[in-house]
Amino acid sequence: MINQQPLKRLLVKLNHDTNNIESLSFTREEFFQNKIRYAQGMSISGMQQKISLKYVNGNYEPCNAEGEYILKPSQEGLRFSAENEYCAMLISQYYKIKTAECSLVKFKDSTENAYITKRFDRDIHNIRIAQEDMNSIFNLSARDINNKISKNYETVINKIIEVTGRKPPAIELLKRIMFSYLISNSDLHLKNISVIYNEKIGYSLSPSYDLLMINSLLEYNENKEQTSMACGLLCDEENTDVIEDEYFTEHFEHYGFYTGHDFLELAKRLNINKKVVSTIVQDFYIKLSGAIEIIEQSLMPEQMKQQAINDIKTRMKVLQIGVIED
Ligand SMILES: Nc1ncnc2c1ncn2[C@@H]1O[C@H](COP(=O)(O)OP(=O)(O)OP(=O)(O)O)[C@@H](O)[C@H]1O
Ligand SMILES: [Mg+2]
Repeated sequence: MINQQPLKRLLVKLNHDTNNIESLSFTREEFFQNKIRYAQGMSISGMQQKISLKYVNGNYEPCNAEGEYILKPSQEGLRFSAENEYCAMLISQYYKIKTAECSLVKFKDSTENAYITKRFDRDIHNIRIAQEDMNSIFNLSARDINNKISKNYETVINKIIEVTGRKPPAIELLKRIMFSYLISNSDLHLKNISVIYNEKIGYSLSPSYDLLMINSLLEYNENKEQTSMACGLLCDEENTDVIEDEYFTEHFEHYGFYTGHDFLELAKRLNINKKVVSTIVQDFYIKLSGAIEIIEQSLMPEQMKQQAINDIKTRMKVLQIGVIED
């Protein structure tokens, strides 16, 4: 089978990581103390609790500015978000999306896993690589964000073409948006899309980060708030700034959710050949059983796995509407 090799490699990594989870040298309580101690100069944004770590003499140690890793325990009230994020990141790698390196670790004296990721905004000499997220590129203030001012993905992709000066990053971002829809990651907001700068190639999309199979995570934690996408898909010419004022296709009006039709319309508006969309959907489909295998072998609890599998199968069908039949 075509994709046997990468799947095998990922499953080996998954098995290795989950059978050899490294223990941290500090407890969860110490993590929160460290968080306060190192909060200054750490410069990692985001809602969740996290700290910077460096690897010294075989141990991860909390630090501030010069961290090489970011540690994120499961969120308060969202049990197993670390395991869920790690699994989502592996599926993203499996679909050949450039994805931040990550693993799971354990707090000292605990069975609880935390998510750890290697910083992609540091070079091999640990020198900072410029990273800028889309909120900042669009100059959105904290007040705008509080007022739910955002941008739809069509506008975001157009901005990526403008910033990078190239079309391939636009196609890459289209795939990432479709992937987020596939795995029910409804958290792909503007802070979770970034560009990084490299002297040779200029600006390009940073590796993907902060991926979660949110529906299964919320269902498991009995938080029934249902979500679809963090941003609208299509630009309403009359009002480009407010989330609620996106343009909905007749297909969306018909089904009540996004289908392949909506992604085809997005591609059309971006002058991206519709074959790109059908190739992405087919690739998702061909590798679906591999993605399910990754979920099955992950460390998420059984009920969360089953939900994630149901969700991915449902979204797969929905993405095929309008794409495969044509
Ligand atoms: N591997 C990484 N390398 C470099 N920077 C990263 C990496 N992972 C995350 N970041 C940066 O840290 C920020 C916070 O990380 P992340 O998005 O995972 O946290 P979060 O608290 O879950 O965010 P959110 O507010 O979206 O829930 C990101 O917006 C990104 O700029
Ligand atoms: Mg984030």
